[in-house]
Amino acid sequence: MTNPRVYVNPKTGSVKIMGLVDIVDKDGNIIESTENVKFCGCKLSLKYPYCDGSHRAITGESKPTIS
Ligand code: FES
Repeated sequence: MTNPRVYVNPKTGSVKIMGLVDIVDKDGNIIESTENVKFCGCKLSLKYPYCDGSHRAITGESKPTIS
């Protein structure tokens, strides 16, 4: 098992965690276990605290395409 990897986007402040993550409440109780989660750093997300891509409004990034 490898350690989760974390990427902090310097443009948006988003934090992407690659790997298995336990989301916990303030007491440390597991609310949800998930993989590859991305937290919003720009505060524009309609799904805050998760990133929904709304940061593109400030970075000018185009929507990713699937090829
Ligand atoms: S960083 Fe805020 S929506 Fe992506």
